[in-house]
Amino acid sequence: MTYEQARTELEQYGQEHLLRFYGELSEAQQEALLAQIDATDFSILRYVKDPHQGLSFGKITPLGAMELPEIEARREEFTQAGLEAIRAGKVAAVLLAGGMGTRLGSSDPKCMYDIGITHPVYIMQRLIENLTEVTDLAGVPVPLFIMTSEKNNDKTVQFMKEHECFGYPADRIRYFIQEMAPAADPDGRVYLEARDRICTSPNGNGGWFQSMKKAGLLDVLHAEGIEWLNIFAVDNVLQRICDPCFVGATIQSGCAAGAKVVRKAFREEKVGAICLEDGRPSVVEYYDMTPELLAANNEKGEPAYNFGVIMNYLFRESELERIVDEILPVHVVEKKIDHIDQNGDPVHPEAPCGVKFEQLVVDMVRELSTCLPFEVVREKEFAPIKNPTGVDSVESARALCLKNGIVL
Ligand code: UD1
Repeated sequence: MTYEQARTELEQYGQEHLLRFYGELSEAQQEALLAQIDATDFSILRYVKDPHQGLSFGKITPLGAMELPEIEARREEFTQAGLEAIRAGKVAAVLLAGGMGTRLGSSDPKCMYDIGITHPVYIMQRLIENLTEVTDLAGVPVPLFIMTSEKNNDKTVQFMKEHECFGYPADRIRYFIQEMAPAADPDGRVYLEARDRICTSPNGNGGWFQSMKKAGLLDVLHAEGIEWLNIFAVDNVLQRICDPCFVGATIQSGCAAGAKVVRKAFREEKVGAICLEDGRPSVVEYYDMTPELLAANNEKGEPAYNFGVIMNYLFRESELERIVDEILPVHVVEKKIDHIDQNGDPVHPEAPCGVKFEQLVVDMVRELSTCLPFEVVREKEFAPIKNPTGVDSVESARALCLKNGIVL
């Protein structure tokens, strides 16, 4: 892209200020900036003016789950079915590790965070240890795909190399990089991150399958006969991955997806609640819960939206291919955004100062039409690390690990 072409493109979206420092840049920096402008989809900025564009809020009604007593009664049957699929190579794991982890106050990828007390125990290590329990039981390694972003990919790959993948076979691990979206001020003016770089941020966890496709990994899935993908969040250090019981139950249910859920600790807990939206299984995010939904009870007098998703889903791969090119809604999320000001001086805001654009994995659930909500014991499977202290923090996750006999 030439300077003139970039200018025309930017003028169309009211973003000419991104070339403010162009004249001061070296030739290589100029080229890099033009290439970044060329690769950026500025049309996404239209969502700033109308954040609900494309977001469908259908009629929300409660949805139950397969609950613990039923799962216990059928545990053996489900587990055997799950192990059979894993041994046949039909199940792969996908770690969503593209997020920025800024809430923890560390600039390193979240997976590198050390929660150890007497010795280092990294978040990634905990996840691999959990996966290894399953692969030991099955007697075969499970393919592991790791989604990173252009901001944390190199560090993540290097970290895994340094730690010899925490004992997991390196040839069963593949990395892919998620897409980025521009980050803007509340009026939709994209920020500059440096004089030669516009501010971009990972485009949410909903684009993971599209990014796998762009990386050419669908050929790998086909060649290896992978039929099920278990996606999971990086931040839950008790996350059970490719849990044979969950895999077996989902396959036997005939659903296109399964979602692990826990009973919410309290009505306002910051988890998405499983529900029906216009009659289809869906997830209503905690920030979209209305006071009416929060207060609603079921016939037993319990909260009607009591099952929270823990970001551990099993998807039938062929169904994902069916919807991969459908456009998921774009969510406009207020965030703190490091940037440079008009003079080129760095700004590190203390509070949200702009917006990022994210597609969310929860929107894929609705697209698929069928989903098995599968209850798990929260003290055994849900120890998310979102904050440095307090709720969902390093402290609370450590306490839960110790309760589960994990030496830290
Ligand atoms: C998420 C879920 C919520 C669930 C909760 C459980 C969403 C939108 N919400 O909330 O339903 O109840 O976890 O803890 O997913 N990620 C990427 N790329 C991105 C953004 C995020 O890979 O661009 C990854 C993160 O690294 C993390 C996961 O997605 O592994 C969750 O993202 P996060 O933004 O932390 O979601 P929560 O608001 O905590």
